[in-house]
Amino acid sequence: MWAYGHAGTLSLFEKRYAVALTKAQIIDLYRVRAAWYDFSANLYYLIGFREARYRKEAVAALGLKTGDTVVEIGCGTGLNFGYLRAAVGGAGKVVGVDLTDAMLAQAGQRIAREGWSNVMLVQRDAAAYEFPAEVQGVLSTFALTLVPEYERVVENAADALAMGGRLVILDFRQPENWPLWLVRLGVFVTRPFGVSLDLTDRKPWLVMQKHFSRVTTTLHFGGSVYIAVGEGREPGNKRGRR
Ligand SMILES: C[S@@+](CC[C@H](N)C(=O)[O-])C[C@H]1O[C@@H](n2cnc3c(N)ncnc32)[C@H](O)[C@@H]1O
Repeated sequence: MWAYGHAGTLSLFEKRYAVALTKAQIIDLYRVRAAWYDFSANLYYLIGFREARYRKEAVAALGLKTGDTVVEIGCGTGLNFGYLRAAVGGAGKVVGVDLTDAMLAQAGQRIAREGWSNVMLVQRDAAAYEFPAEVQGVLSTFALTLVPEYERVVENAADALAMGGRLVILDFRQPENWPLWLVRLGVFVTRPFGVSLDLTDRKPWLVMQKHFSRVTTTLHFGGSVYIAVGEGREPGNKRGRR
């Protein structure tokens, strides 16, 4: 997600957009956005943001096979479900987890419309979600940075994938060399989805390095979008060994 990193007096912009939303505020915001979420997400194409391409790349990076189980954290309206379902086939399972009832209601309509019997929804805070015993892939797109306890989610995913499989995160980040005005612009255009300047301190792609033995990161859109792929449980961090 977007971030800022400068000292000094807070401007009006910082005062208004600095503080991360609470979970209750996130639910309120996405209840308002849910019905139009898919349409508004597509508007970013107008600025050259190739959302579908990034989604496909992220799903391909999971390396899923027919029959696998994949969990998507912060699944929203289910924009990735078609790609995930194609990867695991009819014999596999897709589990979408999200905090906001209204986003899951949209996802439910998509599932019913498509007749997908192997796509399940769970309404849960990602921080409290317990992964299934057997899971071969975990995906999160444009969502994990909104979760204050994102490190716990990464760790839980790494535990769940200890027998093999990958965690893939697709999200925004602040390129180091961006001037403040561009950072502010980035926050401004992603604000409708709950982005705030404070999210600067949340760096899921770095946390992944603590919990996975191999992490690769690919950048897109001028370095402001990353796809991080983690695999192999870092043994030193395994629960019960600490
Ligand atoms: C920008 S939307 C992304 C939705 C979807 N992943 C996509 O790529 O279109 C962010 C989603 O994260 C969900 N979310 C935010 N905080 C969450 C939390 N603590 N636990 C689970 N979901 C959360 C929101 O409800 C929302 O559906």
